[in-house]
Amino acid sequence: MKTRIDKILSESNIMTRSQAREAAKKGRIALNGAVVRSSDEKAEEGDVIYVDGKPIDRRKFFYYMMNKPAGCVCATEDSGPTVLDLLSPGDKARGLFPVGRLDKDTVGLLIITNDGPLAHELLSPKKHVSKTYFFKLERELSRRDADVLSSGIPMDGDTTKPALITFEGREGTITVTEGKFHQIKRMFGYVGNKVTYLKRISFGPLELDSSLAEGEYRILSPEETKKLLAAPVSGNIMQYEQSKA
Ligand code: URA
Repeated sequence: MKTRIDKILSESNIMTRSQAREAAKKGRIALNGAVVRSSDEKAEEGDVIYVDGKPIDRRKFFYYMMNKPAGCVCATEDSGPTVLDLLSPGDKARGLFPVGRLDKDTVGLLIITNDGPLAHELLSPKKHVSKTYFFKLERELSRRDADVLSSGIPMDGDTTKPALITFEGREGTITVTEGKFHQIKRMFGYVGNKVTYLKRISFGPLELDSSLAEGEYRILSPEETKKLLAAPVSGNIMQYEQSKA
């Protein structure tokens, strides 16, 4: 199917349609090597569009994983540093935003994308996409308290969904399938404990790449992207594991 070049450029977050018209008039746009004089011209799937001599990336959606550092907030704008401030100017221009929120002091896996519909699905409580956190607590966790938290506690007029907890002493991992505000900290607070360190180590089918230092990010591989896109259907690892058992 043929699509107008100005539409392709705006959908790829490269420039607006009016900027594309101006760029074409100035001879800045080429199609398969030949300069186009009007952005009304159309291109099809395999065609290569160049802007200022560089081939453009025609993907509409981009997916990244970041190892979020402490000290920045998961928002697109704030009075302090945001996770978007860690992106390169080229990536930032893609209209990216974080999928959900980690607290300012929480570190670890954050998905960043410009795919609004997918983000919505990944965050929907109905989709039960699992998230695993490594935690450190102020005091040792007892088996009894872990069982209370695993089976569900009152929160926001509701009961938290079953959680999977593995621990030894004051440290462990907890997997939940929802994302209530400050959920993990509030869960441990419910049993009179306190989270002193929290790191998200997985989100749905994706695990934090251990080669990413805090503050670093990278684009997802095609395999990871495929798994993430399937997560709203297959994301509930716990149900999946239980169904295999
Ligand atoms: N639960 C929390 O309490 N904080 C986070 O950042 C994420 C989950």
